[in-house]
Amino acid sequence: MLFHPVRVKGVLLHGGKGTRLKPITYTEVKQLLPVAGKAISQYCLEDMISIGITEVCIVVGSVGATDVMEHYGDGSRWGISISYAHQPEPLGIAHAVGLVENFVGSEPFVVYLGDNLVHGGIGKLRDNFIGGSFDAYVALSRVKTPERYGVAEVKDGKLYRLVEKPKEPKSNLALTGIYFLKQSVFDVIRELKPSWRGELEITEALQRLIDKGFSVGCDEITGWWKDTGTAEDMLDANRLVLDSITRNTENVSRQDRNIIGRVSIGRNVQMDERTRIKGPSYIGEGTAISASYIGPNTSIGNNCILKGVEIEDSIVMDNCTIEGEGAVSIHESLIGTGCTVVKGNGVRKGTKLIVGRDSKISL
Ligand code: DAU
Repeated sequence: MLFHPVRVKGVLLHGGKGTRLKPITYTEVKQLLPVAGKAISQYCLEDMISIGITEVCIVVGSVGATDVMEHYGDGSRWGISISYAHQPEPLGIAHAVGLVENFVGSEPFVVYLGDNLVHGGIGKLRDNFIGGSFDAYVALSRVKTPERYGVAEVKDGKLYRLVEKPKEPKSNLALTGIYFLKQSVFDVIRELKPSWRGELEITEALQRLIDKGFSVGCDEITGWWKDTGTAEDMLDANRLVLDSITRNTENVSRQDRNIIGRVSIGRNVQMDERTRIKGPSYIGEGTAISASYIGPNTSIGNNCILKGVEIEDSIVMDNCTIEGEGAVSIHESLIGTGCTVVKGNGVRKGTKLIVGRDSKISL
């Protein structure tokens, strides 16, 4: 690893509303939702730690701030120091960045959106940013639906235009949620006006830096990148993360043939001889599974009960009960903390549902 005398501080954005993940985000903070048993934003934090960052400021919003602070504490669990900045309203990414001016002081810093996952880490981006003496450095990724993101126009390797969610994108290069920045960004943030979506846009701040002649560099990331804004994105992220999980079955007493491939099983998991688990899959601590088939690409949380269930391509969060007498088949589902899904006894006329606002059910 290269030695980097230049210190970089970290900023993790944990505000926002999580509107596209309702109803789960009525009760849970979107960036703390688990993928393979770990909060999404924790992958971001660990990416920052892996490039030597030891001081991180987490920007929390008005919703779920206590949960975030309980999860990350003062950072000592990771051997780093974590402080917090409060953003009372989600007035935009640039607004959130404006809140950390005192925290970063005179040091360069990286802003990592807490709902973004990237494969392969951010070491190369940091090296390019520092090595090239850039004022800002962004990570780009080729996507099929650029209109959902900030879109970059690049000519001869030079970034010249950035547009937030354009109706007619001029390229398929999306701005990912990783921005290496210096103090110059704070002056342009002060000049910004709310966009059509009522937010101070980081994309516009970067465009202003370009227009003012600051050097803004970019690199295309080669591994996968996922913005986990929707349920489908969460399931994609789950598949991508599980794709590199390693087999860990030392916590189960029976190392039998029913655990197939790369399956990671937590402590105190009970599984009976009628259960088959096919990797890549993740099973959290204290979960009890009987007469079930857990298929590939599935993450099951802690302390769940699964009985007579077939499940594939899904995320089940902590403390859920799913009982199916062998007849419940679940796929591509996101099941929030503490949910109960039970197959009826067959005497009812139809499906019995007790579901909250904005739930999505496919029968
Ligand atoms: O994911 C990459 C995209 O993120 C970029 O391509 C876009 O250029 C950028 O604007 C952003 O777009 P989104 O519409 O996906 O941003 P979202 O509102 O989902 O917020 C992204 C993260 O920042 C999320 O973790 C919440 C946090 N956030 C957001 C706002 C608006 C805050 O902490 N405070 C805020 O005020």
